Amino acid sequence: MSQLGLERHVVNPDVLARTIAHFRERGIVLPTFAELADPSTIPAEIRARLAAVDPDDANPLNLFRVHWYNAADRTGLVDVPGHVVLPTSLTGVAAPIIVAFGERFPMITAHKVLAAYGCLAPRLVTGQFDPSRHKAIWPSTGNYCRGGIAVSRIMDCKGVAILPEGMSQERFDWLEDWVLDADNDIVRTFGSESNVKEIYDACNALDLVPDNVIFNQFAEFGNALVHRVCTGAALSHVYRHNAATHEGLELFAFTSATGSAGTLSAGDFLKDKHGTKIVAVEATQCPTLLRNGFGEHNIQGIGDKHVPFVHNVMNTDAVAGIDDAASDSLYYLCKQPEGRAYLAERHGVPQDVLAATKSFGLSSWANILAAIKVAKFYDLGPDQAVITVATDGAALYGSEDKKILRTRFGGTFDKLSAAEAWGRYLLGNDIDWFQELDTIDRQRVFNLGYYTWVEQQGVSLEAFSARAKPAFWRELGDLVPAWDAMIDDFNARTGLLDD
Ligand SMILES: Cc1ncc(COP(=O)(O)O)c(C=O)c1O
Repeated sequence: MSQLGLERHVVNPDVLARTIAHFRERGIVLPTFAELADPSTIPAEIRARLAAVDPDDANPLNLFRVHWYNAADRTGLVDVPGHVVLPTSLTGVAAPIIVAFGERFPMITAHKVLAAYGCLAPRLVTGQFDPSRHKAIWPSTGNYCRGGIAVSRIMDCKGVAILPEGMSQERFDWLEDWVLDADNDIVRTFGSESNVKEIYDACNALDLVPDNVIFNQFAEFGNALVHRVCTGAALSHVYRHNAATHEGLELFAFTSATGSAGTLSAGDFLKDKHGTKIVAVEATQCPTLLRNGFGEHNIQGIGDKHVPFVHNVMNTDAVAGIDDAASDSLYYLCKQPEGRAYLAERHGVPQDVLAATKSFGLSSWANILAAIKVAKFYDLGPDQAVITVATDGAALYGSEDKKILRTRFGGTFDKLSAAEAWGRYLLGNDIDWFQELDTIDRQRVFNLGYYTWVEQQGVSLEAFSARAKPAFWRELGDLVPAWDAMIDDFNARTGLLDD
């Protein structure tokens, strides 16, 4: 249980008492999951104080911005989470494709700070993490560990980021600014995206040090639950907002590229509420779910060659494989003036939609391409929407541009290159590498996780197998109100909300 973040009672009262004192001294109040799901419920006094806080400061109040309702300036609040509805002129399909912007999250300009908070908060309030003594270890492919380092800084505790050496330079630049000790607090593991096993190995080595606490997003249910209640509710709100002006609009599917599969859990919420299908997305260069495959790719943020413990596989309806040449090329095309001119003049893509593409990082394109595959596979019409997220924006990948220009476009990019890339990767994005999962397919994917979790990571067979049953995931939902009550109690004991 302690390995999986499933505690709902105080595990160590002494640690809890020290943590409360630590937070009181630093003036840190914790938001509940319910407040992050619906920020209009955040106390008015906190919202008022937040207005003067820079969203990129390590200020405790920024914990109250770890949600989908930040305005475009990332400072104010909006009534409906920021999103764009991609039209047929951009997608080539009739179904509206709705993309929510993750880059509006504070401090790291990616929604993964939500996952970091979702893993941390339950450990704090159950007395399993003592910021005055423990070191927080954040294993990731680059964004989650930044979110972890951001919340570690806020808590004034030691934090260590573990990520593969091949991730974009922007991630490392950010980390060097934020960690306390750049020589020791950034652990670069071998390889790139697909080398999650090496990340686990680094964690297991660090776990031998008694004061290290590993926040393993791949196995920590706080990650899945915070996405279920916050991302799920936010996407549902975005859908309902659009449905209010589009009679009969159905929320057909949700696509999400899986790293830890935390974000995918929003699908559990959407399926319950709207009957939405859940589509996991991976790189065709590393088709683990589709083919039990392996390989390298550049869709940064989606770790592979494993099935995360928090992935609700038996509730997943389909898997879409995306070629990383497609995500690289479309990301690049939309950044170039020639590419945008081509889309505007040749296809009539509206300027506001083109402007929104700056909010799409590489995995956002994978999610969008998967949504287009869904629309083609199921032959969706204009009243059947597919929703997805742009986890981070293009600004996190500028250092990749030279390599993309060289490897994908042979070193030069003009309108002709734009047309070729569009034809090949967007219009040509067909229903290959798409599989609807039946029960046996789901069991195949589920069973693949055995080798990582039971054989390598020492999870009990009982805990592993329990996740095959819908009841396990249903009952998991009870943790959220239990944790929220503990967060309220924690804040009350700091006395900070009474001031
Ligand atoms: C850019 C990017 N896209 C997608 C993902 C996958 O999200 P999740 O871990 O919730 O599956 C991540 C995870 O770190 C990411 O950083």
